[in-house]
Amino acid sequence: MRLKSASGPEERQACIAQLSDNATELTPSVGLSSRGAFVTFIAVSKERIDRMGRVTYITHDGNRHTVELDDGSTVMQGAINNEIPGIDGDCGGCLACGTCHVHVDPQWRAAVGPISPEEADMLQFSAEVAEDSRLSCQIRMRKELDGLIVHLPEAQH
Ligand code: FES
Repeated sequence: MRLKSASGPEERQACIAQLSDNATELTPSVGLSSRGAFVTFIAVSKERIDRMGRVTYITHDGNRHTVELDDGSTVMQGAINNEIPGIDGDCGGCLACGTCHVHVDPQWRAAVGPISPEEADMLQFSAEVAEDSRLSCQIRMRKELDGLIVHLPEAQH
């Protein structure tokens, strides 16, 4: 939820007062306009926080990166947005490159669900393919995947 700009203490208070009852976090963002500097507050609601899930990416050399993804966003997007090395996502998630390959941790394979024929076709072009391979642009965050662990191959090409 983006609230109106606030340039002074009174406006900031008014801005805060606009928060709905379910807002739990207020993040300031400073900007510049022709009238000077301004601050915009972005409130994150409980509802939005409830719709986020954690994904842990384990790189080929064993480094762990845990990030939070919005419900509905893909595991590939989570890696790209958080600059996690090891996922390229060259086609932006259009199922046309195979450079978002991951190995799903054994305890999460059932929850992730079956692979589609289209994904299986594209996966053939990825490196280091195994039984647990998936294209991370086809794995969308949902409540059941909170805590998901994926392992990244040594290379995507
Ligand atoms: S990002 Fe291209 S197939 Fe997943």
